[in-house]
Amino acid sequence: MTARIIDGKQVAAEMRAELKAEVARLKEQGIIPGLGVVLVGDDPASKSYVTAKERACEEIGIYSDDNRLDASISQRELMALVEKMNGDPKINGILVQSPLPDGLNEPEVVLAIDPAKDVDGFHPVNVGKMVIGEKAFWPCTPHGIIQMLIHSGVTIEGADIVIVGRGNLVGKPLANLLIQKSNMGNATVTVCHTRTKNLSNHTKRADIVVAAVGRPNTITADMVKDGAVVIDVGVNRVEDATKKRGYRLVGDVDFETVKEKASLITPVPGGVGPMTITMLLYNTVESAKRAAGLDV
Ligand code: GUN
Repeated sequence: MTARIIDGKQVAAEMRAELKAEVARLKEQGIIPGLGVVLVGDDPASKSYVTAKERACEEIGIYSDDNRLDASISQRELMALVEKMNGDPKINGILVQSPLPDGLNEPEVVLAIDPAKDVDGFHPVNVGKMVIGEKAFWPCTPHGIIQMLIHSGVTIEGADIVIVGRGNLVGKPLANLLIQKSNMGNATVTVCHTRTKNLSNHTKRADIVVAAVGRPNTITADMVKDGAVVIDVGVNRVEDATKKRGYRLVGDVDFETVKEKASLITPVPGGVGPMTITMLLYNTVESAKRAAGLDV
């Protein structure tokens, strides 16, 4: 079987068109959703993610407040900026790009963000509400993966889903969302990690495999069953002298061989990445609606 490619850019474009129309309707009521963006230091990957997020805001009409700070900024100054944004009515969402440079206390910064503006869904209040199934901002990458599955016609309810990776950004929250008693959940989920005894024993019986470990070729063709759905969250830079910039991006999945066995597969780039940004836009619009007292 040769897999159908899940075009994350296409799904994202459809959702962004809907959001753009909604932002236009909100503007007629005097509501302009705003996102405060904080990038500390000059990590090239973080810079390109933040630029992509700000460009996406502009495209759909969300105001973005850009804050690019030197890596030498103190914890106190960074906390003061977050506090300022918490109190700024023009800002509905606060995004502090992770990871912060060494020397800054990231958990403390996340904790300082007003949970009502935590459009990343990283604040413990939102994480806790998500786990117990209360209304909360869902983290963008897990939510984007679920939206992509739904848009591709994949049945989540009752599916055996194996997530490889137990990180706080993807593995843990995705597992929580997929086991919720809801029309986006009801799956049977296994989370595998570096101490899992026989990884392929698990992945081989999965209807859906999600790879979120940050290492190329972690999932190979022999590790997936025929017809499986394969979601690749990895974004890894590998040296490539044929490219002008000297590297290319690959996921965690050996795409060329796995696509011959799967029924559906996401590419890297152009798979999960555009969905993550789309869900950030979605959360920011939701936050603006809530702040305006609109019932959401
Ligand atoms: N770093 C990698 N992914 C993310 C994300 O979704 N949000 C933030 N704030 N930082 C990240």
